[in-house]
Amino acid sequence: MEDLPSNPNSNNDEIHLNLPKVRFMDAMDIVQWEGFWFEPGLLQPAMTFRSSFQAEDDDVILTSNMKTGTTWLKSLCLCILKNPKPDEDYDLLVKDNPHFHVPTIESTIYRTKPLIDLYKAPSPRLFHSHLPYIVLPDSVKNTDCKIVYIARNPKDTLISMWHYFNSILHSDQNPFPLDKTVDCFLSGVHQYGPFFDHVLQYWLESQKSPQKILFLKYEELKSDPKREVKKLAEFLGKPFASEEEIDKVLWRCSLERLKNLEVNKNGSILYNVHNSLFFRKGVVGDWKNYLTPKMEEKVNQTNRIKLEEHGLFL
Ligand code: A3P
Repeated sequence: MEDLPSNPNSNNDEIHLNLPKVRFMDAMDIVQWEGFWFEPGLLQPAMTFRSSFQAEDDDVILTSNMKTGTTWLKSLCLCILKNPKPDEDYDLLVKDNPHFHVPTIESTIYRTKPLIDLYKAPSPRLFHSHLPYIVLPDSVKNTDCKIVYIARNPKDTLISMWHYFNSILHSDQNPFPLDKTVDCFLSGVHQYGPFFDHVLQYWLESQKSPQKILFLKYEELKSDPKREVKKLAEFLGKPFASEEEIDKVLWRCSLERLKNLEVNKNGSILYNVHNSLFFRKGVVGDWKNYLTPKMEEKVNQTNRIKLEEHGLFL
């Protein structure tokens, strides 16, 4: 459903004809638009979203770069906003994958044949986008709707991304070389890249308007989940009534539980991508198992220049 090679029916060849284009991981074209890189099929939906979406004051738009904890954030917000007290038969997370319930706008809604009718979604509407802040529609920026962004350490993000794209683009071959992936990531030439600009835009906006944009970090959700989820629920205007409620939501959204649900073990969303691909290890610092000291230093250096100088430590 998200982050995937596009619907082959979408016809937007003309749009990206004159845009810079490269081949990502030797397997997937990406084009540059508004300073960011996108798989071509996302452009028309992204443009239509930007020009026509009318936000409502009570909309909640989740935002993230790829592989930064989107699935977790979608699950948490779904429980808090849409399914706070499930009984045995009505746990939405058991029924379907979080990406089904909280659609990624540019991948599923503004397609030639949209999968979901945006305007029939019950209030408060809950959506997600991987698009950078710069291309969000004006109505998202100028109404009272809320934005939640989740960021993650760049080294873990890039390792997660490398695994993910190897699974869908190189599944029957050797993995794409990691050193080349690191270089693509650092030069920003990857789906929804540059990662650092993406994070920085949302970070700076969240500093200016903390009542509008909640900036979460994957690592903080892992290290102090209760505090972070409480903060999230309060930001969404749905504070928890008790500690037990927080524990319940955390359990419902835990990686171990979601990974082992039938729908995520054997189901698939669009384009034959298995739901299981969205759940791997979820370990902070997994990059240590893959990056050489030289690669680590390269990423650290970019991180220092691009983010730490703006007071953002990931
Ligand atoms: P790893 O590949 O490091 O394991 P996204 O949802 O943005 O695609 O990010 C995927 C990453 O989040 C993967 O990281 C995945 O394992 C992890 N993840 C998915 N669901 C999670 C959950 N419920 N709790 C914690 N991490 C989760």
